[in-house]
Amino acid sequence: MQDAFVKPLLEWYQTAKRDLPWRHTKDPYSIWISEIMLQQTRVEAVKGYYTRFLAALPDVRALAGCPEDVLMKLWEGLGYYSRARNLKRAAGQIIADGGHFPETREELLKLKGIGPYTAGAIAAIAFGQPTPAVDGNVLRVYARMNAMKENVLAPGVRKRAEEELGRAMQGLTASENGDFVQAMIELGAIVCVPNGEPLCGRCPAADDCEALRLGIQAELPLRKKDTKRRIEKLTVLLVRDGSRTAIRRRAEKGLLAGLFEFPNVPGYLDREAAVRYIEEQGIEVLRIREAGEAKHLFSHVEWHMSGYEIRVAPLDEGISESGQWLFVENDEIEKRFAIPSAFSTYADYLALHTAPFAQNCKGKG
Ligand code: ADE
Repeated sequence: MQDAFVKPLLEWYQTAKRDLPWRHTKDPYSIWISEIMLQQTRVEAVKGYYTRFLAALPDVRALAGCPEDVLMKLWEGLGYYSRARNLKRAAGQIIADGGHFPETREELLKLKGIGPYTAGAIAAIAFGQPTPAVDGNVLRVYARMNAMKENVLAPGVRKRAEEELGRAMQGLTASENGDFVQAMIELGAIVCVPNGEPLCGRCPAADDCEALRLGIQAELPLRKKDTKRRIEKLTVLLVRDGSRTAIRRRAEKGLLAGLFEFPNVPGYLDREAAVRYIEEQGIEVLRIREAGEAKHLFSHVEWHMSGYEIRVAPLDEGISESGQWLFVENDEIEKRFAIPSAFSTYADYLALHTAPFAQNCKGKG
């Protein structure tokens, strides 16, 4: 890779960069939060979460001391909740080590949830070090600039990209190091875009782009096809006594660990089986109706869900016989319990159907 693109890229970045909240700070904590949120999540979606998170937890100490449920509430809807748990654990590590935010790539890599990309981004953006940060978008830019015909997900490719970009950064000033890292990210996001034709007419690195010279920019990068997701069928049960709805906590390990959810069972149950299941919990069923279907994609699993709204006889304590289901008001769910977006179809259903069932069915025989 030629290094001639570095200066034009830095000049381009000064005028073309988007005005994003985390670009107004060099505070390592804030940069860290932004970079973790931006993994697997779109910039537009992150903006609001970032501002809210920092207002609630302005520094490492606040994060380290934040109760898990409050943390999950702040993260609710962003997905990949282990990111939030790792943030808290890493904050604990920093506090245990005396509270000083690590300043080098090597030190940052010791923190829970921080890999080479995030370590490079924080070291460059917050501390001005010449450490590249190669995520999928930067890898795409790199693959195109070098007309790379190999699978970019193959072992060693990312490391090679880091080494070459690290070399290209030699001789830059501290603030240029941070800008270079963000400029590569920005180029991948708004010019060297995935899926179809990149906007090469606007690219500051076009003169050094081997893929453009060969006319193969739209065909790159080559990636091995994603592995197929496993499909899991579920029946989601919106069990309601009066205005309250049953929720329960998920297991401490595995997918969406420790978060709250509407009770659900594997497979598609018919009405009779759903009613039987509720009765097996020691709860008397009054009425049942369908609450629609939904799909949710995780990285390795796909949930195909079918839902029922089930009206049950009021429970005295608002707790099921087994003690595992909690009957709570809708506004309480919203305020206190983090229900992952995998269930958003059913949370929306509840919001739309807050009137008692009998009223909804008036006049329908
Ligand atoms: N994606 C990952 N890091 C980013 C950043 N700092 N700005 C915009 N998008 C990003």
